[in-house]
Amino acid sequence: MSDSNTTQSPISHPLFATLYDWFPQSTLFAPHRTTLVQDLSGRVLELGCGTGDLFPFVAETDPEPLAYHAIEPDPHMRKRAARTASELSLEVDLRDARAESLPYPDDSFDIVLASVVFCTIQDPDTAVEEVARVLKPGGEFRFFEHVHADGWRGTGQRLLNPLWERVAGGCQLTRETIPRFVGHDAFSVAEIERLEFGVFPATPFVRGTVCRRRDGLLE
Ligand SMILES: C[S@@+](CC[C@H](N)C(=O)[O-])C[C@H]1O[C@@H](n2cnc3c(N)ncnc32)[C@H](O)[C@@H]1O
Repeated sequence: MSDSNTTQSPISHPLFATLYDWFPQSTLFAPHRTTLVQDLSGRVLELGCGTGDLFPFVAETDPEPLAYHAIEPDPHMRKRAARTASELSLEVDLRDARAESLPYPDDSFDIVLASVVFCTIQDPDTAVEEVARVLKPGGEFRFFEHVHADGWRGTGQRLLNPLWERVAGGCQLTRETIPRFVGHDAFSVAEIERLEFGVFPATPFVRGTVCRRRDGLLE
């Protein structure tokens, strides 16, 4: 665990943060967000919470008892997330941090949530290590992510990516995210579903859960 915010270039996308809630994803993602937050309990961490689009779904589940933590490195996003939490009267411990250097001790959380964030995290391999570290043995890592497509869509994504990352806050269309989770020694797969859903170029999506192995040894 280290404070990489001091050594890395800042993450700051004011225009993307302003427009984010106007994109149609709010409606499209709703059923998947509902699934992601089902039966939340205990200590929960959300990675890269953006403007707090998951918060209304968390608030709706009326979870009790729940200690909800979220990290968000972009100050423009974080400000909006804080406002969303306050409007919902949802208690969120919201911190300025990156997924690659989570400011929590080992075995801190029962559940870690990632919603459309591994496309944007700068070093996803380090972030996965951090998720494994902060999850308690038996804890769940739940995710909903868009991934690199096959065939002509994949080729189109490779061509579009240089432009896309500039307009979409650093989002990468070509991430092979899921093998990072299912191939990790610390995790066993509980469920994985590939969803032919989304609008090109941010499609397809994968939703799933992997669990931190109880016998998994972490370095
Ligand atoms: C596409 S938005 C998704 C926001 C939210 N999770 C949602 O479901 O709408 C990606 C978010 O990841 C954040 N982000 C970028 N780099 C990150 C990092 N290294 N660690 C954690 N979050 C990061 C961005 O600031 C942005 O808010």
